[in-house]
Amino acid sequence: MNLKAEFLEDQKAKIEEIETILKEFLPREEGYQKIIMEAMGYSLLAGGKRLRPMLMKEVYLLFSEGTENLEEKKALHAFMAAQEMIHTYSLVHDDLPAMDDDEYRRGRKTTHVVFGEDMGILAGDALLNFAFETAAGAFSNAPSKWREIADALQILSKKAGIYGMIGGQVIDVKETGHVVSGEILDAIYELKTAALIESSMMIGAILGGAKESEVRIVEQIAKNVGIAFQVQDDILDVTGTASTLGKPVHSDEKNEKTTYVTLYGVEHSKKIVEEKSRQAIDMLKELPGEHAYLEQLLIQLIYREK
Ligand code: IPE
Ligand code: IPE
Ligand code: MG
Ligand code: MG
Ligand code: MG
Repeated sequence: MNLKAEFLEDQKAKIEEIETILKEFLPREEGYQKIIMEAMGYSLLAGGKRLRPMLMKEVYLLFSEGTENLEEKKALHAFMAAQEMIHTYSLVHDDLPAMDDDEYRRGRKTTHVVFGEDMGILAGDALLNFAFETAAGAFSNAPSKWREIADALQILSKKAGIYGMIGGQVIDVKETGHVVSGEILDAIYELKTAALIESSMMIGAILGGAKESEVRIVEQIAKNVGIAFQVQDDILDVTGTASTLGKPVHSDEKNEKTTYVTLYGVEHSKKIVEEKSRQAIDMLKELPGEHAYLEQLLIQLIYREK
């Protein structure tokens, strides 16, 4: 992989900007319940690739070039923070003893290990609820954009819910210990992982002023990105190291999960990651705006080691 130094520099700056936004929106640690704010901050600010808010902003920029205004930007930031809160809650709950029972995440002990299982559950709930408090705040940030914000809220909730991430986690957990068909596995990946990536990119498009037909193209691109992302996650669970990933390896084997690796092997899975990602990159051409950064980002994801 030969990523341009300029891309890596830009990426660093973009991640720093996202971290600043996340800190801005986190609740103050106060009140008798302040342990929950601490647990929310512990999991949210532990690092991570910040892929979802990054994708949201990059897609927003494709459609809004030249028309960016301050009001709109505030609404976008609220949704970027909300999307990362929902993603982080999904990880906090995914690591719980009742689910994947993992002890490390983002290079730290998992939230339930540090704060206890009760607070782990509540911290996930808190992040989920606070995500919607945050996103709904966009109505006051950008009253002239209420229609777009309402559409974005609908996507945020649907893609995280029973027709999205939660739905996928349900099938994943139900099928633990069983060998599942390729068809069911694809349904799991579309829901548990691709749905939040679709949400991120579609909300970026909507807030940027994309037409309905363009939002549908973005959804298709994101679906490919999301499935490729989960297949690569499966590969890294087998070929990666805990120190680079910041989370345990062989978690899937421990939990007897069917994955792309168990069904198709590492080499074939790598080909699928490449194929789906190239398909997504190809489809970027159908969208307006300058997508050099986005293209590099999708290439980086194919060969990522964390
Ligand atoms: C992990 O997501 C869960 C999956 C959907 C595979 P990420 O790999 O994006 O985790 P962070 O945000 O970088 O920690
Ligand atoms: C989880 O998939 C996807 C979520 C919705 C959290 P995994 O269980 O494979 O994610 P990791 O490997 O723990 O990050
Ligand atoms: Mg899991
Ligand atoms: Mg897991
Ligand atoms: Mg995994």
